[in-house]
Amino acid sequence: MKIETSSTLNSLSAYAFDEVDKMRDNLTAKGIDVIDFGVGDPREPTPQIVRDAVKTAVDKRKTDGYPRNNGTPEFLEAVKSWTEKRFSVTLDKNTEIASNIGSKEAVFNLPLAFLNPGDIALIPNPGYPPFERGTIFAKGKPVYMNLTEENSFCPDPEDISTDTAKKAKILWFNYPNSPTGKIASKEYIKKCIDFCHDNNIILASDEAYSEIYFEKKPICPLEISKEGVISINSLSKRSNMTGYRAGWLAGDENIISAYKKLKANIDSGTCTFIQDAATAALKDEKHVEYMRKNYQIKRDIMLKAFKELDLKDCTPDATFYIWQKTPDNYTSLEFIKKLMYEKTGIVATPGNFIANNVENLNPGEGYVRFALVPTIEKTKEAAERLKNLDL
Ligand SMILES: Cc1ncc(COP(=O)(O)O)c(C=O)c1O
Repeated sequence: MKIETSSTLNSLSAYAFDEVDKMRDNLTAKGIDVIDFGVGDPREPTPQIVRDAVKTAVDKRKTDGYPRNNGTPEFLEAVKSWTEKRFSVTLDKNTEIASNIGSKEAVFNLPLAFLNPGDIALIPNPGYPPFERGTIFAKGKPVYMNLTEENSFCPDPEDISTDTAKKAKILWFNYPNSPTGKIASKEYIKKCIDFCHDNNIILASDEAYSEIYFEKKPICPLEISKEGVISINSLSKRSNMTGYRAGWLAGDENIISAYKKLKANIDSGTCTFIQDAATAALKDEKHVEYMRKNYQIKRDIMLKAFKELDLKDCTPDATFYIWQKTPDNYTSLEFIKKLMYEKTGIVATPGNFIANNVENLNPGEGYVRFALVPTIEKTKEAAERLKNLDL
């Protein structure tokens, strides 16, 4: 039998991070001791309080069956009170919050609720791949907004043509930004929200890294307006729960109700015992403070090593990424090959893998993304190994 895949699937290049995993596996197969700064999956353990909560919850939830799509009352209450404390935003837990199976699910699926074929989604470039991929599967058209050093990684919505703005339904917004590590100012967020209000565009804010910050705290777009704004967050990065798949959406009740309707047709919600673990995580800030300190230590170790190599200072405000400019005369891939050299054995993501060419320009070219996910010990070792780099 001939199995034919869809034209949409056929049109896609490989998922960028699968390529990075392949690069790591090739090195490991050659017997090289790899230190992997590639995919953003922390290697520290999930906090004890979370693991304890899930153990208890498995028994407590022994007859739960299918989880309700909206989220358990306890989880919704925890999201409500966390949001109130963290951002001073008051949410109605019945109409303004929905649970999800981590941000990736919500980001990928959301366009299905709002895009008709040919409608535009405005997408940061470089950016988290599901912004684009979800748009494509919904038969929408991605239009890229380049994040460059010149625009301080905050593209001006005024540069979007009137024609594009008219056809756009969603603007994907991602601050703290992956991969650049940039935090958006209140003025910039307001400018983007005003642009969205003027053009009937949903501002969909992916805040996966809202809690991984250093010197200053990021704010949430919901602090400026709920109208047409949806904030998507999860426990993955905040609480080292990438494997648990627990997150939420909050904001405009019309967007939430459309998402709930969509989701009821797609899946069955996050397991209730996982939601209990997420609830316990949201009630604790100590482990998050500890996590932030760890990332800061790792960030500073790597920044010092880069400085010693005379690389440009690319200190991130937030997230666990360093969006490092390559040395002069090195493309992203050339620098990655140097890093993967036997004595170094460092894997990172070439910037051009996570950005699209727009008019023959790839804004990720000339950058390499380091995800600060190895342990502090391994990060120190990486810094030592970088001294072997002959640039
Ligand atoms: C910008 C961004 N959003 C969302 C996610 C995924 O988060 P989750 O684990 O909640 O699906 C990631 C993961 O790397 C990310 O970088």
